[in-house]
Amino acid sequence: MLNMPAHITASTGLDALTHAIECYTCAYAQPWPDAVALWAIETLAQWLPIAFAQGQNQEARYKVAMAAMLAGMSYGTESAGAVHAMSQTAGGYFDLPHGVLTAALLPPVMAFNYLGEPHKYARIALAMGEDTRGLSVFEAAELAVESVTRFVETLEIPTLTELGIKQEDVPMLAQLAFDDPQTIGNPRDLTLESYLQIYNSCFE
Ligand SMILES: [Fe+2]
Repeated sequence: MLNMPAHITASTGLDALTHAIECYTCAYAQPWPDAVALWAIETLAQWLPIAFAQGQNQEARYKVAMAAMLAGMSYGTESAGAVHAMSQTAGGYFDLPHGVLTAALLPPVMAFNYLGEPHKYARIALAMGEDTRGLSVFEAAELAVESVTRFVETLEIPTLTELGIKQEDVPMLAQLAFDDPQTIGNPRDLTLESYLQIYNSCFE
């Protein structure tokens, strides 16, 4: 992993972060995968930027690999949600790397989903290293969305437009995501309209 390019470190690391966040908040969440997923979120928040910036940093590589494995264990025990329903289907259609699309779609899906699990989103803000003292649960949950959005930007993930996806593709992509089985575990009810809303928010 020491010679893995920075952009692949970023996209695969953010895929692991997505596994942890989607599993922690999914409809099938259970206590032990919750604990494992939270540890993975906290560790990735702390170490992924260092692995991105210093590819040869062995401690950072170790921490990110451990977090990716534990996030994968929670994913394997439960399910994911709308981010994976969208990234799996769009990635198949456009032949784009899974981690890049997943990372690009994580912030807009979190902005849609936080109302479904506000307490858990507030806990994600803490795991991301944010100071939530004095905030209401909903304010802290919104802070989790802001925090992950900044994190994805910091790791230089391209936008859907930069990936060559056009807004006119949205109705087709929304239908593909809606038909994906991962839709079922999402923390907020999803309709076809929800996917249109999330996808369109990427083009604002
Ligand atoms: Fe994934």
